[in-house]
Amino acid sequence: MLKEVIELLDPKPGQKFIDSTLGGGGYAGAIAKRVLPDGVVLALDLDELALANAGRKFKNEIKNKNIILAHENFKNLQKIIKENFPPPALFDGVVFDLGLSSAQLQDRLRGFSFNLDAPLGMNFGSGVRLTAEKIVNDLEEPALAKIFKDYGEERFASKIARAIARQRQIEKITTTGQLVKIISAAIPARFQRGKIHPATKVFQALRLAVNDELENLREALPPAVSALKPGGKIAAVSYHSLEDRIVKRYFREEAKDCLCPPALPLCRCGHKARLKIITSGVLRPAEEEVLANPRARSAKLRVAERI
Ligand SMILES: C[S@@+](CC[C@H](N)C(=O)[O-])C[C@H]1O[C@@H](n2cnc3c(N)ncnc32)[C@H](O)[C@@H]1O
Repeated sequence: MLKEVIELLDPKPGQKFIDSTLGGGGYAGAIAKRVLPDGVVLALDLDELALANAGRKFKNEIKNKNIILAHENFKNLQKIIKENFPPPALFDGVVFDLGLSSAQLQDRLRGFSFNLDAPLGMNFGSGVRLTAEKIVNDLEEPALAKIFKDYGEERFASKIARAIARQRQIEKITTTGQLVKIISAAIPARFQRGKIHPATKVFQALRLAVNDELENLREALPPAVSALKPGGKIAAVSYHSLEDRIVKRYFREEAKDCLCPPALPLCRCGHKARLKIITSGVLRPAEEEVLANPRARSAKLRVAERI
């Protein structure tokens, strides 16, 4: 949703932005172009490959200090800002384009795709110690089922967890191919004729668990809002309802002056609104974008402005 994000953030020469999810650098590059000659984009990613590629792609921008790259988790935003900018550092915009990049999905060694037989990794970078292999082989059956249910909203979570627990007594589950077979055998055939691959939800759940994606997002939103100057904007593109719910609730909360239960006659929390919501509801990608990139079909964009 690059076009929509750029339109709403509306970067101008000299401004400062944070791209919390560099990936292939599409957003960072587009913002950098708009803030030239003196503006700057601080761009983060957990993925060493994304940073190495961006290092080559943005050689000139990095040399001219229009782009600063950081190999970091966006939940550490406050620390990253402190390390890279003298205080008080306030920004004109922060963007989150959540989830995994096309490059990560297509990299056959990473284990994100159920269409490529690969080791069960699924981590965004080497700093993420957990792997899908560890989860699948080490977790108790009920804990596995909970991950599939909570993070994948998988209807057959318990059945799949039971099938995994049975199979791993025979052999260790180390590849995406093995896992896909187990999932496909556990889901009743009549539920496998839908549009999505039967392993989609379990793979999503494992990826979210390995990278602690929802918790990272929850931790990153407050410092992201604090980093904005009045009038600065925060934009978040999510790809599934769990992420979108976190963004929606946080924006709504930060747009209210008091968070006390309605039964209290007087405000005790003292909370003051810090955001004005710009996108009423969510923005969805244009049809052309979905045709060009089917992965964009589930994208939801929310934007809010710092008061
Ligand atoms: C959808 S891609 C971003 C694509 C990017 N907007 C572009 O234009 O190419 C998401 C990226 O965010 C990174 N990422 C996910 N969670 C992260 C986190 N907690 N901290 C930093 N980077 C993260 C992933 O490694 C991935 O490269």
